[in-house]
Order: sequence, then C-alpha cells, then structure tokens
Amino acid sequence: MSGHNVWTHKGTFLLAAVGSAVGLGNLWRFPYLTGENGGGAFILIYALTIFAVGIPILIAETMLGRTSRRSPIMGMRHLIKTHKTSRAWESIGWLGAASAFLILSFYSVIAGWALHYTWLMLTGSLVGADAQTISDGFNALLASPGLMTLYHTLFIAASALIVGMGIHKGIESGLRIMMPALFVILIVVLIYGIINGDVGAAASFLFTFNISDLSLEGWLQAMGQSFFTLSLGMGAIMAYGAYMSSEASLTRTAIAVAFVDTAVAMVAGLAIFSLVFGAGLETGQGPGLMFVTLPLAFAEMPFGALVGGVFFILVLGAAISSSISLIEPVAAFLVERFDMTRPQAVTIMVVAAWAMGLLTVLSFNVWAEGTIFHSLFGRSAFEFIELLTNIFMPLGGLMIALFAGWALTQSEVIKELGTNATWFKIWRFLVRFVGPAAVSFVFLRTIPQVEGYLIPTLGALIIVAAFAIGQRLRQPKTSS
Ligand code: TRP
Repeated sequence: MSGHNVWTHKGTFLLAAVGSAVGLGNLWRFPYLTGENGGGAFILIYALTIFAVGIPILIAETMLGRTSRRSPIMGMRHLIKTHKTSRAWESIGWLGAASAFLILSFYSVIAGWALHYTWLMLTGSLVGADAQTISDGFNALLASPGLMTLYHTLFIAASALIVGMGIHKGIESGLRIMMPALFVILIVVLIYGIINGDVGAAASFLFTFNISDLSLEGWLQAMGQSFFTLSLGMGAIMAYGAYMSSEASLTRTAIAVAFVDTAVAMVAGLAIFSLVFGAGLETGQGPGLMFVTLPLAFAEMPFGALVGGVFFILVLGAAISSSISLIEPVAAFLVERFDMTRPQAVTIMVVAAWAMGLLTVLSFNVWAEGTIFHSLFGRSAFEFIELLTNIFMPLGGLMIALFAGWALTQSEVIKELGTNATWFKIWRFLVRFVGPAAVSFVFLRTIPQVEGYLIPTLGALIIVAAFAIGQRLRQPKTSS
C-alpha cells in the first residue's frame, strides 16, 4: 500500500502546486467575478480569505497528504485509524471527489474556449478586428454547442491522456518554462494596457472599495474564489502532498504558492481592466470577459497574432496543469481502492465529468433559460454548478481545518509541520478558530439569501450524506 514514491527534488511539490493553483481561476474566473461584483470590495474579501484562511488550510491540506502518503480518501482512512478518530471525517475525501468532478466538468468547457482562441490567433483571423466583431465572434462560439463540445472533448481527452499515462509527474520541466513565460507575457499585455488602455481607472476599480457595495452572493463568490484559485479544500493538494519530500518546509511552500498565485491574478486583473476601461467595455459582462477583452488587444497590437497565439497556448498549459490535479486524486483513489489500472480509473472519472460538462455547454445556448435549474434555483446549470463549488470548496476547507486542528493528535502534527512552537500555535489558532469562523460567517450570512430551492436541496443532500456516513460507521471495520 505504501508503494508511493516521493518526489526527489525538494522544489517539485512547489512547482506542482503552483501548476495546480495557477490556471483559469486566475486568468478567467478572478477577473470576471471581480467585474461582476464591482471590484475592490470583492478583492478585499478574496485577499483576506487567502491570507487568513487559505494559507493555513493550504498548510493543513499539504500536511494531511504528506503524513498519510496516500490518495485523499485512502489517506483520510489511514489518518482516522492511526489517530483513532471518527470515521465521519472520511467525508472530507468524498466531498473532495464530488468537488473535483463538478469543477472538472466546467473547467474543461472553458479551457475549450481558450483552445478556440489559440486557433483564431495562430491563423491570424482576428488581426485588425474591432470590438464589435470580436464580441460577435465570441457570441457565435457560445451559440454553437457542437463546436464547444468538440473543444471540451479535446481538452478533457488531453488531460486524461497525461494523467492516464502517468506522465504528469514528468511535465515538471515543461512547467518550469511555461509558468514564468505566462507571467512574462501577462506583463507584456499589462504594459500594452498601460500604454493603450486606462490603468488608472483599472487600479481605482480594483483597489478602492466600499464594502457595502458587495452583494451577499458576492461574499460567497469571493470566498469560493479564494479556495478555487488555491486548489484548496478538495484533495488536489493532499494528493500532491503525498509525494512531497519530508525535508521541504510546509509553511514556506504554502506562502510561496499563495503569493505566486495572487500575483498572477492581480497582474491579469490589472491588464484586463485597463483594456476594459480603455475600450469602454462592460466590467460586469460575465464569463466572456477575458475572451472578449484580450483578443481585442491582440487584434491591435504589433505582432498581435503571434503574441496572442503564444498567450493562449500558455493559458492552455496552465489550464492543463490544473485539470490534471483535478483528475489525479479521484483516479489515485480508484486505483488504490479498487485495484483498477490507471487508464481505467482515469477513463471513468473523465467520461463522467465530460458528460456532466455538457450541462455547461448547453447553459450558454439551448438551455440558457427555461430549464429546471432556472425554475428551482433561479440560474442556469453552469451557474448552479459554480454556486455548488463556491459552497463545497470552503466546506471542504472548513472540515480540513477542523480535522487538522482538533481531531489529529497534536504532538504528531507539530512533528510533521516541523516549525517552532510559536508558529505552530499561530497556525493552530488559525485552523482551529479563524478559518472555521470565517467560513461559517460567510455561509450563515449568504446561503440563506440565495434564491430558490437551494436550502432544501442542500439540506436533503446533507441528510443523505449523514445517513450514508452513519451506515458506514455501523459497519464492522474492514481491512482497508
Ligand atoms: N486552481 C485552479 C485554477 O485556479 C483550478 C483548480 C485546479 C482547482 N485544481 C483544483 C480548484 C482543485 C479547486 C480544487 O485555475
């Protein structure tokens, strides 16, 4: 069972975690949610959750993976046994698998849009195009379920191939080049935005705030986004932690990941909003924001087709290094638990997520309105799935924080963390009290206000889950 090998290089975990963290969350989701929620206040809540809640939970989640040296669900079982605590904690693993599956389903559809734009850039189709042409082109993409399904299929298949063949551990050298390159090209776009756009308006939109401007659902989205962008609360980081060298520092690594991740989001946000204000575009236009704004800049800039082509290729790279971290934990579980081969496990996970992704594809056209999701939850299937991830990920993080801070034997935890007593106490205070309090606060404040039948639905889900856990607890211990 402990056939787990450990990454030999100390920096590999950092690289893999940055690869998982930096992705569409930073480039696509962060700017569009910020735009929809009016800017500064959203960023304030987002940044506060990253630093006070996100980093401590990132440390906790990595630690769970590293001490158990197993895939998340099996790792939880192992820790439950060795620390003699309740089997109900196993639900962290299951909740994580559910989140991974939900996220992958829409992540791949959006990455498919990037695939489309890579093609448009490299063929020079948009050179010289104006704002109207570009936005019409994007709407035409959304209107075509066939095209979107094709791209979605290509992207998810590519991710599946990488994880299925087990080469994701070998893409390290690729990441080492791609991540800095992505950052450099973002800076280039930012400079273009500073020269040709309105960076002053962008900065005041992003960094001045009036907290009362943030809607209740905005609070939930800001917190959800901070977990999403760090790949937190669902086992991805736990799965990678299982390979982390015991010598590397958990605290320093977590801070570095959060820092790089936030820097990428901020540069992307500044660049995109400089262009938005410069060209008089809508800040709150929703998921299309990045795909309408950046191509416009590439259409006008010198060598734009080339720069844009390289940019979207790097976006795809960042998206793939994130999507493989969504597949890995579930696949590793299926392999360890059911003795499947890797390709079998990956196929099951990916085919299911692919099918679920069709809901997102259709949410932008055929099912844009009038579906059961609209009548029950007042939103499209895609928006509903996003809402669920905004709840599931902080919920997963909350449970990880409680598990690490209260359920585990603390003398073992301090050994694994390898910090001095003061840092340990600060960390433990954050995971014991601050994280759970912050997440509960936002949940209590926002979820009761969310439209429709969400509350009864979540209630029913929780009862079913509690029942399932109860059933398991009554079973005699199996030799897992
Ligand atoms: N963090 C990634 C991004 O920002 C998305 C992602 C990858 C993710 N793995 C995850 C999100 C696990 C949540 C959990 O694009």
